[in-house]
Amino acid sequence: MRELPVKLGERTYSIFIGTSILGNTGELLRRVSGTYKVLVVSNPKVFSLYGKKLLDSLGERGFESITALMPDGEEFKNMEEAIKILNQAVDAKLERNAVIMALGGGVAGDLAGFVAAIYQRGLDFVQVPTTLLAQVDSSVGGKVAVNHPRGKNMIGAFHQPRMVVIDSSTLSTLAQRDYLSGLGEVIKYGIIYEAEFFSFIENNAEKIIKKDEGCLQELIYRSCRIKSEIVEQDEKEMGVRAILNLGHTFGHAVEKLGEYQEYRHGEAVVMGTMAAAYLALDMGLLEQSELERILELFKRLGISPGFPSYDPAQVYDGMLNDKKIANKKLRLILPRGIGDYLITDTADKDKKEVIKAIERAQKGK
Ligand SMILES: NC(=O)c1ccc[n+]([C@@H]2O[C@H](COP(=O)([O-])OP(=O)(O)OC[C@H]3O[C@@H](n4cnc5c(N)ncnc54)[C@H](O)[C@@H]3O)[C@@H](O)[C@H]2O)c1
Ligand SMILES: [Zn+2]
Repeated sequence: MRELPVKLGERTYSIFIGTSILGNTGELLRRVSGTYKVLVVSNPKVFSLYGKKLLDSLGERGFESITALMPDGEEFKNMEEAIKILNQAVDAKLERNAVIMALGGGVAGDLAGFVAAIYQRGLDFVQVPTTLLAQVDSSVGGKVAVNHPRGKNMIGAFHQPRMVVIDSSTLSTLAQRDYLSGLGEVIKYGIIYEAEFFSFIENNAEKIIKKDEGCLQELIYRSCRIKSEIVEQDEKEMGVRAILNLGHTFGHAVEKLGEYQEYRHGEAVVMGTMAAAYLALDMGLLEQSELERILELFKRLGISPGFPSYDPAQVYDGMLNDKKIANKKLRLILPRGIGDYLITDTADKDKKEVIKAIERAQKGK
């Protein structure tokens, strides 16, 4: 088991990464919490796979657990479900020293974390992520939120977990589509932050596809290290943390046009990254050969779904509705070569270039 600290002053916490460490959760939680009550938030699918092992592990260390199950799916990451869980917390008489624990992917994690942030002005929160996306991205960094009908993650907070327990063997049951979609967020770290990590993914693509255990752990560890390094510099996203949104403004528009049903979040991020890469090429930030390296890696990993043929003007409008808009300007994260970034504010006059990048991503050339 490897331990990675996320250094955030009094909110410092550890990420534990290992194979089959789900059964150690109770013991790890005892190190940071004296409570006896834990509200576990999950969905029926994940809970049927891993719930018993988790609850047994908590029980062994004297924790009493209450389970709140939400239906499976992004469309349930909303206020109504949050209220249902809050009601369960009230019914169970959860007090300030209780712990809320998310067992599942980014959806369960974001929803449970949101509830943890607001119930009695904030309870301790623990993440036990079970999708690749959640293990490498959403469980680390403290962003928690629910969606609003007008936009993703519109209502949320920063609420850091007390710890994160990543059992990489849970990925064995994850559908290949969900697994692969998480790789979009992994590659993002290489593209905008660390060229060496990008090469690591290139050199291990086959092992990664096959979920080779040793390789997976390294992939997760390095991703969490990069994400935590960025979060440590800028916890509340006033500056550099925004680079984690590579591909997301395009991606959120695609997710919305697909009514959150058509594409997984990670798939939309890959599509958005393609569009951002074409825009970067146009702006002279990226060489043709670097663009090809990125596209080639997506292809080799089997995460190259192509940008869907929505009307580019509609995609652009969707991007304007994204909440990450500074002074009505569209803020975009663009790759500058591989391993570096540029944060750019585009005004109306750049609309043409953005639409052109979408069209090029659609055509793939
Ligand atoms: N908070 C953040 O910083 C942050 C960052 C990135 C993404 N997100 C959010 O994460 C969400 C997407 O998360 P996701 O891709 O994990 O989706 P998800 O939580 O919907 O999980 C995908 C599917 O896998 C199933 N599943 C989960 N673990 C499993 C396992 N071990 N075995 C079998 N099935 C399993 C789930 O039930 C679900 O059907 C989005 O809402 C996105 O906005 C948040
Ligand atoms: Zn994301």
